[in-house]
Amino acid sequence: MLKGKCAVVTGAAKGIGRSIALKYAKLGANLVINYRSSEEEAISLEKELKELGVEVLVVKADISNFNDANNLILMAKERFGSVDILVNNAGITRDGLVMRMKEEDFDRVIEVNLKGVFNCIRAVTPIMVKQKSGKVINMASVVGITGNAGQLNYCAAKAGVIGMTKSLARELGSRGINVNAIAPGFIQTDMTNELGEKAKDAVMANIPLKRFGNVSDVAELAAFLASESASYITGQIISVDGGMSM
Ligand code: NAI
Repeated sequence: MLKGKCAVVTGAAKGIGRSIALKYAKLGANLVINYRSSEEEAISLEKELKELGVEVLVVKADISNFNDANNLILMAKERFGSVDILVNNAGITRDGLVMRMKEEDFDRVIEVNLKGVFNCIRAVTPIMVKQKSGKVINMASVVGITGNAGQLNYCAAKAGVIGMTKSLARELGSRGINVNAIAPGFIQTDMTNELGEKAKDAVMANIPLKRFGNVSDVAELAAFLASESASYITGQIISVDGGMSM
């Protein structure tokens, strides 16, 4: 279904990004996997992807850095000749109640989760416009829609990603480019494992499907959005959250 396509996944070494990369490879896409610090995991993912018979380029880059993000996209284009799919997945949390939130915790979350998405979009847009095709998939979050106590910085960034998704969809729709966002709920990864049992119980109480999500729940949607089956869908924010954000 994605045979021969070039897909760039940021923050791909772990969690949701890793699952998306594996899913895309199973569908035949060649992968550019970006990591910032998780080198060991990135190398083991590279091996797994190659075993699936696709080509892989591993790029170390901090996507919050404009030049790093630009190089990542240019290296993908140079290696594979096109950039067909960009998944802006990399993200961090620096949680805390607003009265205790440090300025650097606000700034860093915005730099990575919001500016980082812009950096990659800025780099890929000229390439996709020239190709007259492309799929951009941004990882938002349900809390970017609903807000969440203790995550003011993260929610602001994810709400910003939702705004960017809709703006870019409007800007690039006439160029054959689809831009959508996924809003995961509580997905079991390193990011959510940090939460205490009490906080997890409180989240579970609000999930109609009564289970936390798996990374593959998100990867399935990312695969659909990257495929031609989703060619008439753009500017949408699709929740994968067990019904949490209704
Ligand atoms: P994770 O922490 O397992 O993976 C995030 C990856 O991004 C890590 O490999 C990390 O090294 C990488 N990364 C962080 N900063 C980076 C930077 N500056 N440059 C390049 N890579 C960087 O987290 P998870 O859970 O897989 O999250 C993936 C995305 O999904 C994030 O954008 C997150 O905000 C979003 N999300 C996750 C939810 C969850 O419940 N796990 C819920 C809603 C959204």
